[in-house]
Amino acid sequence: MKTPVVRTFSSTEDIADHFTNILYRAVVSAGPYHKVSVALSGGSTPRAVYSYLASLKGNPLAWHKIRLFWGDERCVAPESPESNYRMTKESLLDHIDIPESNVFKIKGEREPFSEAYSYAETVSGLLPHENHIPKFDLVMLGLGKDGHTVSIFPDNILLFHSDKLFEATENPYSGQQRITATGKLINQAAMVVFIVTGRFKAGIAASVIEKRGDWEKYPASLVQPVNGELLWLLDGEAASELGK
Ligand code: 6PG
Repeated sequence: MKTPVVRTFSSTEDIADHFTNILYRAVVSAGPYHKVSVALSGGSTPRAVYSYLASLKGNPLAWHKIRLFWGDERCVAPESPESNYRMTKESLLDHIDIPESNVFKIKGEREPFSEAYSYAETVSGLLPHENHIPKFDLVMLGLGKDGHTVSIFPDNILLFHSDKLFEATENPYSGQQRITATGKLINQAAMVVFIVTGRFKAGIAASVIEKRGDWEKYPASLVQPVNGELLWLLDGEAASELGK
């Protein structure tokens, strides 16, 4: 595994701009026949990045060369205010010229275990494989205050080691059913980018990044790309406990 890179920015907008450049470079380096496969995240911080991408003038990103997937989804209808797809649609998809055929939502309205299987099949059929595992070009992740990422929470951390690509699980606090990518898929990616903002994340970010305290209890600590790059994009508040 490559050494994680931690970058600190003065604002969420600067984080979003950096993420945009990462996406732009992935598209440019992909060549004329490869579509860049990106797994998106739910959460308020990712949402801010989507709004920034939607605000870009002059269509700098070749969206026709980008395929969008999700790393997790709540088991709700796509119209639900809880839906990660709906959040992404409202903040990004409705504002860019991406072909519908490039957007692969997790069907939160379906029976969770069936959809976890079906979505894994969809991903597996569309992405190139390395070591017999589908390889995302880019996986965006958020970080929960409890150290969860995608929908793998500390109380079900073993799910990260599943042999499946996607699993059905639940949010232990709300009982809400979820579908989540597992470590098998996440750690196969060419690049994994954590996007973390706010002082309430400073402690957990420092614990995971610097392997301090109970870091081994946090699913985010298990994100260690096998051959890919791991990048942390933090704002000043989220980075405020690093090195202390
Ligand atoms: C979700 C996300 C979840 C999120 C983190 C961070 O469906 O909620 O997948 O993992 O990324 O909870 O969310 P915030 O950025 O809103 O704190």
